[in-house]
Amino acid sequence: MSLTFLIDDPEAVLSSWPREPRRYHRDPLLFERYLTLAEVDRLIDTNCLATRNVSLLKNSKILERHLYADEDLPRPGALREHLNAGGTISLRSLERLVPALADLHHVLRQETGYGVHVNAYLTPPGAQGLKYHYDPYVTLILQLSGPKAWPVHDPFVVNPVREYGSYHTDGFTPEQLRFLANTPPKETYTLAPGDVFWLPRGYVHSPYTVGDAPSLHLTVAFKERTYHWVAERIATEVLAQALTDPAMREEVPPSTITEYPAGAVHLMRNYLLGALLQLNEDEMCAQLAAEAQRPV
Ligand SMILES: [Fe+2]
Repeated sequence: MSLTFLIDDPEAVLSSWPREPRRYHRDPLLFERYLTLAEVDRLIDTNCLATRNVSLLKNSKILERHLYADEDLPRPGALREHLNAGGTISLRSLERLVPALADLHHVLRQETGYGVHVNAYLTPPGAQGLKYHYDPYVTLILQLSGPKAWPVHDPFVVNPVREYGSYHTDGFTPEQLRFLANTPPKETYTLAPGDVFWLPRGYVHSPYTVGDAPSLHLTVAFKERTYHWVAERIATEVLAQALTDPAMREEVPPSTITEYPAGAVHLMRNYLLGALLQLNEDEMCAQLAAEAQRPV
């Protein structure tokens, strides 16, 4: 199983990562190998899920664990009660729980060199888990059961990452909140079982169930490697090599630090420029390839 199984144009996507939402469709029966509503119901009702496997959402908030769990285990029946009260359950890191998703996770990491995680979301009819928000990575939504509507607005931040422009750390500004309250979504995608929805990072979304059926979808998140990540790897390597040079471990005289820091800054700027020019690019490429397969 690979990206080919999920989208129509994997080669084009791997060479030019799409920055616009798009929808694909597969036979919904093909997704039964991953997860079904019946399996999720059974996991919930047999109390098979540990606290680390679930996150409970309601009214756009993540419930604190003490409200439904004792240490490592949700209290018996608590997850079903949450669903019955209109809450959403997110099943976390399913690549560690479901063998077919472990395979998918492994192949997608190999194919992209990106960090990948796989979660599922079960939302009852007439409910909504998270309201308007955006994510710092692309999500590929695989609709498994029931319909779900995804109103989408254009990004406020170009190419957000966890460390810059992240909704999860920064939230929305008052202007952005006003915009969202007064502007209809650019488009609303209503997903049916078998739909695969590519939602690039930064797009503001507020999904909710429609109709009488619960919605179950898988979210495959690809945590993109950025040019900043490449630069960071190179800088880390240059600094690691610098540490092997006794001259670089020499102390900077206190008077230089306090009275003439420009001398040290000038010296080290030139050192780093020289070190970057001497960097062995073949070795660096091999390091990057190995690093890309490590978990994010
Ligand atoms: Fe999201």
